[in-house]
Amino acid sequence: MNEDKGKGKGVALVTGANRGIGKEVARQLALAGYEVLLSARDGEKASAAAREVADATGGAVRALELDVADPGSIELAARRVREDPGRLDVLVNNAGVGTDFGVSGTAPDFGAVQRALDTNFFGAYRLTIELLGLLRESERPRVVNVSSGMGGVAEMGGWSPGYRVSKAAMNAMTRILSTELAGEGFLVNSGCPGFVNTDMGGPMGAQKPVEEGAAGIVWLATLPDGGPTGGFFRDGTPVAF
Ligand SMILES: NC(=O)c1ccc[n+]([C@@H]2O[C@H](COP(=O)([O-])OP(=O)(O)OC[C@H]3O[C@@H](n4cnc5c(N)ncnc54)[C@H](OP(=O)(O)O)[C@@H]3O)[C@@H](O)[C@H]2O)c1
Repeated sequence: MNEDKGKGKGVALVTGANRGIGKEVARQLALAGYEVLLSARDGEKASAAAREVADATGGAVRALELDVADPGSIELAARRVREDPGRLDVLVNNAGVGTDFGVSGTAPDFGAVQRALDTNFFGAYRLTIELLGLLRESERPRVVNVSSGMGGVAEMGGWSPGYRVSKAAMNAMTRILSTELAGEGFLVNSGCPGFVNTDMGGPMGAQKPVEEGAAGIVWLATLPDGGPTGGFFRDGTPVAF
């Protein structure tokens, strides 16, 4: 057993954490006492952000290179995590791309639909499965899929078909895994950060501060035993699938 086991609140991996909501989730988890594996597809950006978050929080933050759209990168990163720290309690599938915002569903760009699925759905799903063995060793395994209200089927409107379908698929994955893992102490949920002022949301006019959007994700990542599973939440409040 790795000697780090049992220290602190546990180990949390956040994807796409070099900027935006992911970096803020990493910061808040570090402040909460988690050892954070701050991952990004560009290793240098991961290192720079990990240093920044560690300096700002005084927490244990280390960089991990991980491109969730690349199955080989997922395999390699998962192997690294299994080797060191050899523990994982929280996985935040945050990495995401908006490839076709505003594009009509009647005139889709199928390449853009595929790219949204590759990152937002297959990336999160593959990574979760690759890390499942390690998560199963945790006393409190938590998986948060950073989704979007745009992926809610019940109230879904038009446009942005790739982004919407990728987040709807992610939400289905939340339901499937939460059901199958319910007997093993897992809490698996989807979280919508809301319309947040980041590189993704800001150009469309989002005003919500990133700290607030991230807080609802961190809440799901740090749920106590007996907390909800298989849900879809924004700012701690259930939203329609
Ligand atoms: N902002 C909003 O209003 C809003 C609303 C609802 C949901 N969301 C969701 O919240 C999550 C974070 O969004 P954000 O607003 O923080 O977006 P952002 O500022 O555009 O940041 C996206 C992050 O994902 C990373 N990423 C993209 N593709 C990746 C890949 N293949 N592998 C690893 N990392 C990858 C980016 O890395 P690079 O720097 O390398 O590109 C970046 O770190 C996304 O899943 C998004 O869909 C956002």
